[in-house]
Amino acid sequence: MNTGIDAVAYATPRTFVSFDGEWAQKRSLVFTDGDAAALTAKVNRGIGLSQMAVPDAHEDIVTLAANAVRRLLEQSSIELQDVGHLIFATEGGVDFSKSASAYLLGALERIPSLAKGGPGSTSHICNVEMKFACVGSSYALEYATALLRSGMSSKKYVVVVSSDVARYERESNAEYTQGAGAVAFALCQNPSLVTLDPTPMAVASADERDFFRPLFKDTPTVDGKHSVGVYLNLVEKAYQNHCNNYFKQKLKASDSDVLADTAAFLFHVPFPKMAEYMAARIFLPFFEDVSEISEEQRNEKETDFRKSSDFRSIFEEKVEPGLTLSRKIGNIYSGSLPLCLASVLKGASETQTELVGRRVIFFGYGSGACARVYSGVFGGGCEHAGKIIGQGARGFDRELSVSEYERLHALHSLQAEPCAIDPGVDSVVKPSGEIASFGSLAEPVEKVGLRDYRYVG
Ligand code: HMG
Repeated sequence: MNTGIDAVAYATPRTFVSFDGEWAQKRSLVFTDGDAAALTAKVNRGIGLSQMAVPDAHEDIVTLAANAVRRLLEQSSIELQDVGHLIFATEGGVDFSKSASAYLLGALERIPSLAKGGPGSTSHICNVEMKFACVGSSYALEYATALLRSGMSSKKYVVVVSSDVARYERESNAEYTQGAGAVAFALCQNPSLVTLDPTPMAVASADERDFFRPLFKDTPTVDGKHSVGVYLNLVEKAYQNHCNNYFKQKLKASDSDVLADTAAFLFHVPFPKMAEYMAARIFLPFFEDVSEISEEQRNEKETDFRKSSDFRSIFEEKVEPGLTLSRKIGNIYSGSLPLCLASVLKGASETQTELVGRRVIFFGYGSGACARVYSGVFGGGCEHAGKIIGQGARGFDRELSVSEYERLHALHSLQAEPCAIDPGVDSVVKPSGEIASFGSLAEPVEKVGLRDYRYVG
């Protein structure tokens, strides 16, 4: 049975910080001895980012998810009545117990254009929050596919939404790898965008300490260099499993067949340069045998290989189109890999690149740690999807000053007490025609701490 992705939409905040200008001037005092141009060059070329999305006061994982799901349903003319399951992948849950998916359904019911029946109109939808750092979205996709393949989905569509706000300590070297956004997929049988290959998703797991956020902290504890190494090793292992079990055994495809047939290698993007490191790890063995050399020798070879014309031409053709959106949005944790698909579809429609019938390989990674690798084949709906994907997606139209950004960063910190938000006062860009967070309730006693999401017309 053919199952896979039938529609894609994404949502971001409107507010952003650019890595040139004021931010670079201020942070260069911390990072580059006051040399702002050197810091901008490092973040642009060394990390691969030109700016990062920053959530406004009224935005969080639920509002971003609501925007993405709304756009998905409206652009694809999918009725909520035809959605049987909604799976919410996030590592930034808003409650220890109440599922973010329940808040999301409540929010969707408040959007006048969606909720024909108002309160209770989504009561038929099975919904759940799934967490495994950034790789939660791959687990959600696996669950969705299993529901559809087994016939356990009572309706035509399963919706997977991956939504996160990546927030690190200010003035740390992870600060410029923040971001915020959500990506929604509709999955069904005989999908028009990507038919997932009929094989189990490959896996490589390890109990790791590369990145975690303890319950009492509002930014993660991260060992950046170590996390890069864990990512490389686990994703490579999972890819080798997928390659052996599916490409080599089932499809009888060699490395060069895989390279030729694959239009898009989509890597989880904590920052775009990471995709380059990972691509070198995957592609180098296509050119030479590195199985017998030491890790140090291999790292050196990969660094040289990244500069070679062989690597650059494959990278530009098969990896770079997946990174375009991430370069401006930043890390959106669970949504980062799904965002690559949106980016490829959008780019292919702009450059009139033919994707139909060609393979796409997904390389998922989540700290803690786990890698999932899976693949599929692009379908006939890609061109249309690429054209509409950007439509209605709010662009970044408000650059933040450093003081505005720092105020919002502080406002999104873990709240020890219920905290009301007044978007009319607290937000930089006031919400309009969308779901907004009004924070959490301080009263009555039976509602203390309950999140307050409202539609602002
Ligand atoms: P850093 O100290 O900013 O960077 O840390 P660096 O010193 O390693 O330099 C990076 C690159 O910039 C190097 O390139 C430099 O040469 C280059 P390379 O040599 O490797 O090719 N560079 C320059 N290039 C051009 N012009 C210049 C210049 N200066 C230097 N002037 C790090 C980077 C990623 C470690 C840090 O930002 C961090 O800790 N980020 C957060 C953790 C992270 O993203 N880890 C990624 C893997 S873990 C993961 O993906 C999971 C995650 O998404 C969470 C989850 O699963 O939930 C994070």
